[in-house]
Amino acid sequence: MSSVRDYIRTIPDFPHEGIMFRDVTTLFADARGFRMAVDQLVQPFSGVRFDKVVGLEARGFILGGAVAHQLSAGFVPVRKKGKLPGAVISESYTLEYGTAEVELHDDAISAGERILLVDDLLATGGTAEAGIKLIERLGGEVIGCAFVIDLPDLGGRKRLEDLGMNVQALCAYEGD
Ligand code: PRP
Ligand code: MG
Repeated sequence: MSSVRDYIRTIPDFPHEGIMFRDVTTLFADARGFRMAVDQLVQPFSGVRFDKVVGLEARGFILGGAVAHQLSAGFVPVRKKGKLPGAVISESYTLEYGTAEVELHDDAISAGERILLVDDLLATGGTAEAGIKLIERLGGEVIGCAFVIDLPDLGGRKRLEDLGMNVQALCAYEGD
Protein backbone atom coordinates (compact mmCIF):
# COMPACT_ATOMS: atom_id res chain seq x y z
CA MET A 1 0.00 0.00 0.00
CA SER A 2 2.15 2.84 -1.19
CA SER A 3 -0.33 5.32 -2.60
CA VAL A 4 -3.59 6.85 -1.47
CA ARG A 5 -5.34 5.19 -4.38
CA ASP A 6 -4.42 1.74 -3.00
CA TYR A 7 -6.63 2.42 0.05
CA ILE A 8 -9.73 3.45 -1.93
CA ARG A 9 -12.28 0.69 -2.44
CA THR A 10 -14.43 0.50 -5.58
CA ILE A 11 -17.96 -0.78 -5.18
CA PRO A 12 -19.68 -1.53 -8.51
CA ASP A 13 -23.33 -0.61 -9.11
CA PHE A 14 -23.72 1.76 -6.12
CA PRO A 15 -25.91 3.76 -5.77
CA HIS A 16 -27.25 2.70 -9.19
CA GLU A 17 -26.43 0.07 -11.74
CA GLY A 18 -23.43 1.07 -13.83
CA ILE A 19 -21.87 3.42 -11.27
CA MET A 20 -18.42 2.52 -9.93
CA PHE A 21 -18.57 4.02 -6.42
CA ARG A 22 -15.19 5.16 -5.09
CA ASP A 23 -15.40 4.46 -1.37
CA VAL A 24 -13.03 6.50 0.77
CA THR A 25 -14.13 4.96 4.08
CA THR A 26 -11.40 2.35 3.65
CA LEU A 27 -8.85 5.15 3.19
CA PHE A 28 -10.11 7.03 6.25
CA ALA A 29 -10.14 3.85 8.37
CA ASP A 30 -6.46 3.10 7.81
CA ALA A 31 -4.05 5.08 10.01
CA ARG A 32 -1.29 5.25 7.38
CA GLY A 33 -3.71 5.88 4.54
CA PHE A 34 -5.51 8.71 6.30
CA ARG A 35 -2.28 10.41 7.33
CA MET A 36 -0.94 10.04 3.78
CA ALA A 37 -4.10 11.59 2.35
CA VAL A 38 -4.05 14.59 4.71
CA ASP A 39 -0.30 15.14 4.21
CA GLN A 40 -0.70 15.03 0.43
CA LEU A 41 -3.71 17.37 0.45
CA VAL A 42 -1.66 20.10 2.13
CA GLN A 43 1.61 19.39 0.31
CA PRO A 44 0.92 21.49 -2.86
CA PHE A 45 0.25 24.47 -0.59
CA SER A 46 3.37 24.26 1.53
CA GLY A 47 4.42 27.76 2.54
CA VAL A 48 1.00 29.19 1.65
CA ARG A 49 -0.97 30.88 4.43
CA PHE A 50 -4.64 30.05 4.90
CA ASP A 51 -7.09 31.58 7.33
CA LYS A 52 -9.74 28.88 6.95
CA VAL A 53 -10.44 25.50 5.45
CA VAL A 54 -13.96 25.07 4.08
CA GLY A 55 -15.16 21.45 4.01
CA LEU A 56 -18.12 20.29 1.91
CA GLU A 57 -20.66 18.01 3.59
CA ALA A 58 -20.25 15.20 4.32
CA ARG A 59 -16.93 13.57 3.54
CA GLY A 60 -15.25 16.95 3.15
CA PHE A 61 -15.78 17.48 6.89
CA ILE A 62 -13.60 14.49 7.79
CA LEU A 63 -10.75 15.59 5.55
CA GLY A 64 -11.23 19.30 6.06
CA GLY A 65 -11.04 19.11 9.85
CA ALA A 66 -7.74 17.23 9.70
CA VAL A 67 -6.37 19.56 7.01
CA ALA A 68 -7.35 22.64 9.04
CA HIS A 69 -5.55 21.25 12.08
CA GLN A 70 -2.44 20.57 10.01
CA LEU A 71 -2.50 24.11 8.56
CA SER A 72 -3.32 25.70 11.93
CA ALA A 73 -6.34 27.23 10.20
CA GLY A 74 -9.99 27.46 11.21
CA PHE A 75 -12.59 25.08 9.84
CA VAL A 76 -15.90 26.13 8.30
CA PRO A 77 -18.61 23.72 7.08
CA VAL A 78 -20.69 24.12 3.94
CA ARG A 79 -23.81 22.13 4.80
CA LYS A 80 -26.83 20.79 2.99
CA LYS A 81 -29.92 22.99 3.29
CA GLY A 82 -31.56 23.32 6.70
CA LYS A 83 -28.71 22.04 8.90
CA LEU A 84 -26.95 25.23 10.01
CA PRO A 85 -28.59 27.00 12.97
CA GLY A 86 -27.57 30.61 12.31
CA ALA A 87 -28.26 33.06 9.49
CA VAL A 88 -27.11 31.54 6.20
CA ILE A 89 -26.51 32.27 2.56
CA SER A 90 -27.49 29.57 0.04
CA GLU A 91 -26.54 28.35 -3.41
CA SER A 92 -28.38 25.82 -5.57
CA TYR A 93 -26.67 23.45 -7.94
CA THR A 94 -27.76 20.84 -10.44
CA LEU A 95 -27.67 17.13 -9.77
CA GLU A 96 -28.22 14.25 -12.17
CA TYR A 97 -31.91 14.44 -11.18
CA GLY A 98 -33.11 17.82 -9.88
CA THR A 99 -31.29 20.37 -7.79
CA ALA A 100 -29.66 20.58 -4.37
CA GLU A 101 -28.87 23.48 -2.10
CA VAL A 102 -25.94 24.13 0.20
CA GLU A 103 -25.54 26.77 2.89
CA LEU A 104 -22.85 28.69 4.74
CA HIS A 105 -23.24 30.76 7.90
CA ASP A 106 -23.20 34.36 6.75
CA ASP A 107 -20.59 35.32 9.38
CA ALA A 108 -18.31 32.28 8.91
CA ILE A 109 -15.88 34.04 6.57
CA SER A 110 -14.71 37.65 6.54
CA ALA A 111 -13.78 39.69 3.48
CA GLY A 112 -10.21 39.03 2.40
CA GLU A 113 -9.81 35.71 4.22
CA ARG A 114 -7.73 33.13 2.40
CA ILE A 115 -9.57 29.83 1.97
CA LEU A 116 -8.71 26.25 1.07
CA LEU A 117 -11.76 24.29 -0.15
CA VAL A 118 -11.64 20.55 0.64
CA ASP A 119 -13.80 17.62 -0.44
CA ASP A 120 -13.30 13.92 -1.05
CA LEU A 121 -14.26 13.83 -4.71
CA LEU A 122 -14.57 16.10 -7.75
CA ALA A 123 -17.10 14.86 -10.32
CA THR A 124 -19.15 17.45 -12.23
CA GLY A 125 -17.85 20.20 -9.96
CA GLY A 126 -21.35 21.39 -9.11
CA THR A 127 -20.93 20.98 -5.38
CA ALA A 128 -17.51 22.64 -5.32
CA GLU A 129 -18.69 25.51 -7.52
CA ALA A 130 -21.59 26.16 -5.13
CA GLY A 131 -19.10 26.20 -2.24
CA ILE A 132 -16.83 28.63 -4.11
CA LYS A 133 -19.75 30.96 -4.83
CA LEU A 134 -20.76 30.98 -1.16
CA ILE A 135 -17.20 31.78 -0.05
CA GLU A 136 -16.82 34.52 -2.65
CA ARG A 137 -20.19 36.08 -1.72
CA LEU A 138 -18.72 36.70 1.75
CA GLY A 139 -15.57 38.18 0.25
CA GLY A 140 -13.36 35.16 0.87
CA GLU A 141 -10.56 34.34 -1.56
CA VAL A 142 -10.39 30.69 -2.63
CA ILE A 143 -6.65 30.08 -2.90
CA GLY A 144 -6.97 26.38 -3.66
CA CYS A 145 -9.37 23.46 -4.03
CA ALA A 146 -8.09 20.07 -2.81
CA PHE A 147 -9.73 16.70 -3.45
CA VAL A 148 -8.69 13.11 -2.89
CA ILE A 149 -10.31 11.86 -6.11
CA ASP A 150 -10.81 13.51 -9.50
CA LEU A 151 -13.18 12.03 -12.09
CA PRO A 152 -11.97 14.09 -15.06
CA ASP A 153 -14.46 12.55 -17.49
CA LEU A 154 -17.22 14.38 -15.62
CA GLY A 155 -15.63 17.76 -16.26
CA GLY A 156 -15.33 19.18 -12.76
CA ARG A 157 -11.65 20.02 -12.96
CA LYS A 158 -12.13 22.00 -16.15
CA ARG A 159 -15.19 23.72 -14.71
CA LEU A 160 -13.25 24.89 -11.65
CA GLU A 161 -10.14 25.79 -13.65
CA ASP A 162 -12.34 27.89 -15.94
CA LEU A 163 -13.30 29.81 -12.79
CA GLY A 164 -9.59 30.46 -12.24
CA MET A 165 -9.19 27.92 -9.46
CA ASN A 166 -6.02 26.07 -8.46
CA VAL A 167 -7.33 22.47 -8.42
CA GLN A 168 -5.36 19.67 -6.77
CA ALA A 169 -6.32 16.00 -6.55
CA LEU A 170 -4.44 13.01 -5.19
CA CYS A 171 -5.65 10.52 -7.80
CA ALA A 172 -7.91 10.26 -10.83
CA TYR A 173 -10.20 7.57 -12.23
CA GLU A 174 -10.77 7.83 -15.96
CA GLY A 175 -12.57 5.83 -18.56
CA ASP A 176 -15.17 4.04 -16.47
C1 PRP B 1 -20.38 13.56 -3.53
C2 PRP B 1 -18.93 13.85 -3.23
C3 PRP B 1 -18.78 15.31 -3.58
C4 PRP B 1 -19.80 15.49 -4.70
C5 PRP B 1 -19.09 15.56 -6.03
O1 PRP B 1 -21.13 14.02 -2.43
O2 PRP B 1 -18.64 13.59 -1.86
O3 PRP B 1 -19.13 16.13 -2.48
O4 PRP B 1 -20.66 14.34 -4.68
O5 PRP B 1 -20.01 15.66 -7.09
P1 PRP B 1 -20.05 16.88 -8.08
O6 PRP B 1 -18.63 17.27 -8.38
O7 PRP B 1 -20.74 16.30 -9.29
O8 PRP B 1 -20.83 17.97 -7.43
P2 PRP B 1 -22.67 13.74 -2.25
O9 PRP B 1 -23.45 14.85 -2.85
O10 PRP B 1 -22.98 12.36 -2.74
O11 PRP B 1 -22.92 13.85 -0.70
P3 PRP B 1 -22.14 13.36 0.63
O12 PRP B 1 -20.72 13.81 0.56
O13 PRP B 1 -22.89 14.06 1.71
O14 PRP B 1 -22.26 11.87 0.70
MG1 MG C 1 -19.91 15.03 -0.86
